[in-house]
Amino acid sequence: MSATISPEKIFHYPVLLNEVINIITPQNGGTFIDCTFGQGGYSKKILEYPNTKVIAIDRDKNSIQIASDLKQKFKGRFSFHNIKFSQIKDLKIDDEVKGIIFDFGYSLNQVKNHSTGLSFESTGELNMKMGLNDFSAKDVINKLDQRELEQIFKYFGEEKNSKLISKKIVFERKRRNLNTQDLVNIVKTAKKKYYTKTNPATKVFQALRIFVNKEISELTKSLKESASIVSQNGIIITVSFHSLEDKICKFFFNNLSKQDKGSRYLPEKKSLKKPFIFVTKKPIKPTPQELKLNPPSRSAKLRAIKKIGTYENDSNVFSKYEDLLNIEKFSEKL
Ligand SMILES: C[S@@+](CC[C@H](N)C(=O)[O-])C[C@H]1O[C@@H](n2cnc3c(N)ncnc32)[C@H](O)[C@@H]1O
Repeated sequence: MSATISPEKIFHYPVLLNEVINIITPQNGGTFIDCTFGQGGYSKKILEYPNTKVIAIDRDKNSIQIASDLKQKFKGRFSFHNIKFSQIKDLKIDDEVKGIIFDFGYSLNQVKNHSTGLSFESTGELNMKMGLNDFSAKDVINKLDQRELEQIFKYFGEEKNSKLISKKIVFERKRRNLNTQDLVNIVKTAKKKYYTKTNPATKVFQALRIFVNKEISELTKSLKESASIVSQNGIIITVSFHSLEDKICKFFFNNLSKQDKGSRYLPEKKSLKKPFIFVTKKPIKPTPQELKLNPPSRSAKLRAIKKIGTYENDSNVFSKYEDLLNIEKFSEKL
C-alpha cells in the first residue's frame, strides 16, 4: 500500500508522513504508540494497514472526539489516552511495541484556537496551555520575577534581548494586566530594530510555550521511558520543530547509538555495545513538494533509532540538560 499524501483527501497534512511510514513499515503489522495524536494523521495512516494496532496519546482534550471516531472505525485496534507523553510508562501494554512516534510541538488547530493564546494574533488572555497544565502564561508573566523571566526567554527562546524584554514586562505589569497583544507590543518596542521576516515576538512566545507545557522534562522523560518500552528491533522516531527540541533528541539518540571510537593514544578499551543503532544518520527534512503543500513543515527534522540490544536506563540526558530542567522549577512558586 502506498503512503502517498493525497491532498484532495485530507485537509490536514501530517508532517513527513511518507517518511515516518517508510521507516516504521506498518505493512508488516505490529503495535505502534503515537505519542502526539493531534488530529490523528499518523494513527489513521498506520491503521489503514491490516494487522496493525495503535495506542495513541495526546494531552489536548480536543483530540478525544477524533479519537473516538477512530475507535469506532477500527474496533479493538485503536485506543486513546488523554495523558501527557511523560506518563507513557503508565500504559498497560501487552503487545510488543514496534514503533514509538513523537511529532512535537502544537497542531494548526491549537494555533487557530484563539483561546489557547499560542498565536500572535490572539486577542484574549495569555494562556499557551496545551492541556493538563498546572499554570498558564498569564501566571508566568505576572508572577515570576525579572531574573526568572530573563532566563526563560534566554534559554528556552534563545532570545538575545531577554533582559530588556523582562524589564519592560515587570514595569508594564505594575500598571495593568498584560494580555497577548500587550506582550507582543512590549517585545516589539524592546526590540526596536528587527529585520527578520518572522514576528519579533516569536522567540518569547516559543520560550513561554516551552515553560508553560514543561516541554523539556516532558521530552527528556518520555525519551528515556520509550527506550525501555520499545521492543527489540523496534523504532523510536522524533519529528522536532525548534533547535532546542532537536538538540535534545540528537543528544539522546547519539548517547544510545553512537559507538565510542576510543583514542589511539590510550590502551584499547573493550567497547560496550550500544543498545540502539541509527536509522537516520542525518535528520530527514521535508521535500520541496511537501513544503509547497504545507509551508509550516519547513523547520521539521526527523530522527530515528532502532533497538538492537538491552537498554539499562543509562542515558545521561537528565544531567546533560539539568540547567534547563532547573529553569522549569521556577514554576514551583506559581
Ligand atoms: C504537531 S501535533 C501532532 C499532529 C499529529 N501527528 C497529526 O498528524 O495530527 C502535536 C500534538 O502533540 C500534543 N502534545 C504536545 N506535547 C505533548 C505532551 N507532553 N504529551 C502529550 N501530547 C502532547 C499536542 O497537544 C498536539 O496535539
